[in-house]
Amino acid sequence: DIKMQKFQSFPCTFSTLRLLLLWGIVVGGSQLEGLCSEGEWEQGIYAKVTNPTLSPSHLKDLPGFTRSVYKRDYALITPESQVFSALPDWTKTSGAYLITPAMDSHFVMYIAQMKENATSALPQQDIERFLFVVKGEVVLSTGAEVFKLSVDSFAYAPPNFKHSVKSDISAVIVVFERRYQRLGNEDPGFLAGSTEQQPLVETPGEVFTLRKLLPTNFSYDFNIH
Ligand SMILES: *[C@@H]1O[C@H](CO)[C@@H](O)[C@H](O)[C@H]1NC(C)=O
Ligand SMILES: *[C@@H]1O[C@H](CO)[C@@H](O)[C@H](O)[C@H]1NC(C)=O
Repeated sequence: DIKMQKFQSFPCTFSTLRLLLLWGIVVGGSQLEGLCSEGEWEQGIYAKVTNPTLSPSHLKDLPGFTRSVYKRDYALITPESQVFSALPDWTKTSGAYLITPAMDSHFVMYIAQMKENATSALPQQDIERFLFVVKGEVVLSTGAEVFKLSVDSFAYAPPNFKHSVKSDISAVIVVFERRYQRLGNEDPGFLAGSTEQQPLVETPGEVFTLRKLLPTNFSYDFNIH
């Protein structure tokens, strides 16, 4: 069970923190709820991901200004560092890579903004994929089954598993891709679910709640919290 070590973050709000929590960072989310104004909540729980605040106004016009920080074992990537461009073979989608192996990580993480009727492409050979919906809704087809994934839903596709993601309405998803590393004897299986359905992991004495989105056995070589 290799935990993802790197993460990506946005200006501080509760919705951001909730996201960080999912992605393996431990924060006292409930204590920080007060940081969000009502208006932000109306745009959805991940509004700060899909509609981020840009640089502070007094620094907005400074060329090259960024609050992003890159360290050996973590990175804080703020919206002004996100560069959106077409994703290879996806249609009607623009993507911003947040983490890539060029930054020494063992996975890729990107935001994909899918317009109405956009379609995904498959990952490369032997690459597993995990996706998480932060805005809108996507339809994931595996050939045998069709899944409607709304905000807070996720799916895991093992390496070389044929699937496609389509958005009937505009949607934003966060995608992790990684070269699968075999730890046990059994292959990982496809799965789709929603955060709410995942059991709470006991964390006695802590102020946060914790859920794991993938099974914790050796078929899966990483997890998302
Ligand atoms: C999306 O597809 C539907 C059904 O094919 C079509 O009616 C609609 O016009 C399309 N929307 C856009 C923006 O292309
Ligand atoms: C891992 O968990 C999945 C889902 O619960 C299950 O289908 C699979 O058989 C398990 N694999 C092993 C090696 O225990």
